[in-house]
Amino acid sequence: MVTRYALTLLRPLLMAASAVFFMTVFQSCASSQDDEERRMDRFVSSLMKKMTIEEKVGQLVQIPANFTTGPEVETGDYKKAIAEGYVGSMLNVEGAAETRKYQELAMQSRLKIPLLFGKDVIHGYRTGFPVPIGEAASFDLEAIERSARCAAREAAASGIHWTFAPMVDVGWDSRWGRVMEGAGEDPYYGAAVARARVRGFQGDDLSDTLTILSCVKHFAAYGAPIAGKEYNSVDMSMGQFANFYMLPYKAGIEAGAATVMSAFNDFCSVPCTVNRQLLRDILKDDWGFDGFVVSDYNSLGEVINHRCAADGREAARKGIEAGLDMEMSTDCYSSHLAGLVREKEVPMKLLDDAVRRILEQKYRLGLFEDPFRYSSEAREKSIVSSAESHADALYVSERSVVLLKNEGNILPLSPDVKTVALVGGLSKSAHDMCAKWSCADERLAVTLYDAMMRRDVEVLYNEGYNLDTDEILDMEKTLADVRKADVAVVAIGERGEYSGEMRSRGDIEIAREQQELVQAIAATGTPTVVLLMCGRPVIFNEARQAAGSVLCTWWLGSEAGNAICNVLWGDYNPSGKLPATFPLHHGQIPIYYQYKSTGRPASNGWWHSRYMDIPNEPAYPFGYGLSYTEFSYSDLQVLPGDGKDVHARVSVKVANTGSRSGEEVVQLYVRDEVAAITRPVKELKGFRKIALDPGETAEVVFDITDAQLGFWTESLEYVVEPGDFTFMAGTDSEHFLSGGFTLEESLHLKMKER
Ligand code: NOJ
Repeated sequence: MVTRYALTLLRPLLMAASAVFFMTVFQSCASSQDDEERRMDRFVSSLMKKMTIEEKVGQLVQIPANFTTGPEVETGDYKKAIAEGYVGSMLNVEGAAETRKYQELAMQSRLKIPLLFGKDVIHGYRTGFPVPIGEAASFDLEAIERSARCAAREAAASGIHWTFAPMVDVGWDSRWGRVMEGAGEDPYYGAAVARARVRGFQGDDLSDTLTILSCVKHFAAYGAPIAGKEYNSVDMSMGQFANFYMLPYKAGIEAGAATVMSAFNDFCSVPCTVNRQLLRDILKDDWGFDGFVVSDYNSLGEVINHRCAADGREAARKGIEAGLDMEMSTDCYSSHLAGLVREKEVPMKLLDDAVRRILEQKYRLGLFEDPFRYSSEAREKSIVSSAESHADALYVSERSVVLLKNEGNILPLSPDVKTVALVGGLSKSAHDMCAKWSCADERLAVTLYDAMMRRDVEVLYNEGYNLDTDEILDMEKTLADVRKADVAVVAIGERGEYSGEMRSRGDIEIAREQQELVQAIAATGTPTVVLLMCGRPVIFNEARQAAGSVLCTWWLGSEAGNAICNVLWGDYNPSGKLPATFPLHHGQIPIYYQYKSTGRPASNGWWHSRYMDIPNEPAYPFGYGLSYTEFSYSDLQVLPGDGKDVHARVSVKVANTGSRSGEEVVQLYVRDEVAAITRPVKELKGFRKIALDPGETAEVVFDITDAQLGFWTESLEYVVEPGDFTFMAGTDSEHFLSGGFTLEESLHLKMKER
């Protein structure tokens, strides 16, 4: 009693003391950070004083080695250039021993400035993770961050300092093969994923040898090439960009991304690589980005192909003026920049600014202290492909699978299933499962076939179709085995190499033969599960209609087989949701859920925005995904805010009414009922992934702030208008409860103030 009384008296004192303690710790952290920044500043300034113009230009030069990820380029005697200090960075060099070899060359140079090794570590390194669109389907930011952290850990242990990821381009057109590398069609969700991936790669200390630099790409609007054709022009107004594409780039920068890659395309009619408005005005000035900008592969030289520079010299001048700091693989900077500076066509301060930005990142990585600190073969051995990495990959892969259909609850497979007919060569192909942009060690990848053989069932395997030609193989034998089995599991889809860069396709329908095979299998009466393997939204109407159950498994990487089996047998209850709309028909593309209100709104009657011959509705909407359990939504309420930043709160109750534990992604959409500009019919503005046991109910509450209500104008002003809004909370973009809200006050902010 006495003790409690004493504590009551002491509590204010204790609280004050702890506040002082935390303030002191906080201040001393902040001031030690300031000290560190000052130290870096002094170091870089003094180094730059010693550098010749040519050595400075050298820091802006990145050359490819070993293999190319673009057209072949002439790199000349690059080893000599490195030893002379005229190369700042290399791409596609990997492995502790290999990176050490090149770093030793750089250490022969006059100033011994270390090289920076960059690589496309896109979905895992030697341990392959799901392709990014698949991982995005998890709607699980912790899992996504974990995946990036694992990739960074492995890559860093292999001598790599810098990944060209995350790709944060919003894509609405699944003909464009690179939708595989992004987080789907939504800017709000894309921003959340961008933040998670940057955090995962970089951690909070770049000098930690388990972290690497990230690169937000491709700035900007690379995900909107006309007609989905790779490397095509982009036709985009500033308002459209700001409202539908910009957020993920901005979020990546705010999360601290060290680098940004300029895009191949043009933006407002100027190639992004020399686009001053994008690189200097928006990125560096408005957003305060203090890292460096690298071009895409050859994209500075390609400004000549855009016909926006007559030659390499003009491209170099335009690049440095625009704010492009490092040139990947072409030689405009290495051949012309020193001359341009000497002849005073380019001010030295532009060159110095670029050099400083690059040297600072090298400093932050700790390379000046020890240029070989990432190139440790011992660390590489213990970290790369470790059991920990594979456990991470399995965790993320399970969460990436989306259950699209489950008629008659074929799934999860019951313990009574003794014989499984497994059909489809894709289920046996480690190469396809690791997919494009893979660094994975395919020898360690577990295919679906491998994993299923370890289950306590008899597996009757048939290839089903030829992987290259799609021709159906030995249909009679396949069907005979299917008839003998308790269930048929049929893997269909694209090849792993069919999505990614340079993989735009005019036809994204799954091969007719594969779909006919599914129809024939389902017609036997054996319960049929389709596993859809793909790197983009595809069309597969016949197969999905014929099968009883459909799982979209994307390309899951090294642990694909284990993850799929865990989902098939219910060891993991699927919880993924589609981060992109799946079209019903090619003619609907580009198709996306946040289309705008028109004067003749989309509907099926006459005089409405629609097609004569195909429906407006997709095969599956954005946010769609089922579970082995059931969730029911009730009691949506719009509650008052806090009188300050929170204008209102949307609360909704979600109950697990089924018989299994499961996870649900509760989604919040907002519609601005009347605005000065045309607005989308709905936009995702919040989501929460929750886990519920059978019979359990949770109340999910979303805060509504300016960020949920406003829009960007053509002059990049962020505006929140007073008036009516509708809030929709539900299980996907088409199934929700809704409630109204009226905002009394308005807000207008310039870009810099946001
Ligand atoms: C071209 C791609 O567009 C880019 O994303 C990639 O990082 C570079 N090549 C380097 O491989």
